[in-house]
Amino acid sequence: MATWVFATNNNHKLEEARSILPNRLGIVSLKDVSFLKEVDETSSTFAGNAELKARAVFEEVGKPCFADDSGLCVTALNLEPGVRSARYSSETGPVDHLQNNLKLLKNLKHTDDRSAYFITVICLIDSEGQTSFYEGRVFGEISREMKGVHGFGYDPLFIPQGYDQTFAELGEGVKNKLSHRSVALRKMLEDLE
Ligand code: IMP
Repeated sequence: MATWVFATNNNHKLEEARSILPNRLGIVSLKDVSFLKEVDETSSTFAGNAELKARAVFEEVGKPCFADDSGLCVTALNLEPGVRSARYSSETGPVDHLQNNLKLLKNLKHTDDRSAYFITVICLIDSEGQTSFYEGRVFGEISREMKGVHGFGYDPLFIPQGYDQTFAELGEGVKNKLSHRSVALRKMLEDLE
């Protein structure tokens, strides 16, 4: 069986990928290959950061791998927080999802345009070191209050188009069908087959 390293420490992302990609791809995590370094996401683009993460793992582990970089882009905030989604509330401190959500609510307090999208760019590096990129987006709206307990990040605030509940209320089943990452993962799978 092939082994593909998904360059993430985020268990939600790992489970999402495993639910979409077939078992025969043998998806393993960074923990499984004992990759313990933190890769600095210094690029100003999603593709650049995804490549930084994938390249660091490929060079150290020598196995085909892929990494995603994702974020939330809000129309009324000039597509912020964008690549800064993880550290929206504090550039230097640890990632704090609650504070990020509260900052987003505050910044949109007087705004009627609640439209936003999540975006993922996946960088895949094959066994020969060749890179490919896959993008996925899911469009929706930012809720006026946090709701739900599932998922992570901005899930308690994001209501996907066609629904009236947040990702955190809808849960994994629905999210894995609609999410930005699932769209990008399906494009990657199509390419691999
Ligand atoms: P990452 O760099 O790809 O891990 O994503 C950066 C940040 O974007 C995360 O820390 C979350 O705040 C946000 N984010 C990315 N994907 C999701 C998602 O599926 N749901 C909620 N928030 C997300």
